[in-house]
Amino acid sequence: MKTPVPDYLQHVLTVCHDNDQGALADYIPELAAVDPNKFALALTTVDGTIYSTGDDETEFTMQSMSKPFAYALALQHLGIPAVLEKVGVEPSGEAFNQISLDKETNLPKNPMINSGAITTHSLIPVQKGISRAECLRRFLSELAGRQLEFDKQVYKSEVKTAFRNLSIGYMLRTVGVLDSDPVEIVNGYIKQCAIKVTVKDLANICSVLANGGVQAKTGKQLLERDVVRQVLSVMMTCGMYDAAGDWLTTVGIPAKSGVSGGIIGVLPGQVGIVVFSPKIDEHGHSVRGVDIFERLSRDMGLHLM
Ligand code: DON
Repeated sequence: MKTPVPDYLQHVLTVCHDNDQGALADYIPELAAVDPNKFALALTTVDGTIYSTGDDETEFTMQSMSKPFAYALALQHLGIPAVLEKVGVEPSGEAFNQISLDKETNLPKNPMINSGAITTHSLIPVQKGISRAECLRRFLSELAGRQLEFDKQVYKSEVKTAFRNLSIGYMLRTVGVLDSDPVEIVNGYIKQCAIKVTVKDLANICSVLANGGVQAKTGKQLLERDVVRQVLSVMMTCGMYDAAGDWLTTVGIPAKSGVSGGIIGVLPGQVGIVVFSPKIDEHGHSVRGVDIFERLSRDMGLHLM
């Protein structure tokens, strides 16, 4: 990179600004009401240095970008083998909200699609009256370096229209993957999705994954190394759902999208990258987000291969 990082980021934002394709995620009424023009980009390097541009103070909900961290919490508390007994690690090749299970194992295919993420949510240990969503909120706040909050409006809005996720919850309860009330688990999962962040928060969170689980500013090992490896591997193969192959060939780094319009990416040993632009494509990925990541990957040689 010849130009200073902030100038370069601003340049990328400007170049991708005119891409007006995609639509807001209207199956969650509150998400259909956001400003579609918001656009932000942030990077945090493994030493904790953050660069950001655009609407970098705008808060949005994590949605599916919360899934890798719920998976990390479950892995950290139960160990990898116990979690593998409940949810697999194979790409599904299906939409994120497909009502389906692996035909051989009767388990959700992976923790990045909704069926796997609802299962993973149920594996977060509840401690002394602290809900699973609250446990994740506290964990993400520590990773971000500030107290994050729930967006109660978005939570309520999704709970009212959660018919598809409830179907998935009942299916999981029927086959014994869930062993408690599916409505409570689905509501908790929806609350986990409603944790509010800015691109800067997410970039800081992702830099811990990039740094092998160690938070640069505090020196604390917040995630075990084998957990980080498991999470990043699953993000690599399953994080972009039925567009995972396209993503891997064009961008080439572990990533996860959310229907609020964010995409997080992690380049191991180097940097956490986050884009936010609310209009999404048919896979549930931010249109301008994909555009930006492809550009950054090309310009900065981020592709792992
Ligand atoms: O469960 C849902 O449908 C939403 N709370 C999250 C889906 C999502 O973000 C899909 N990813 N791009």
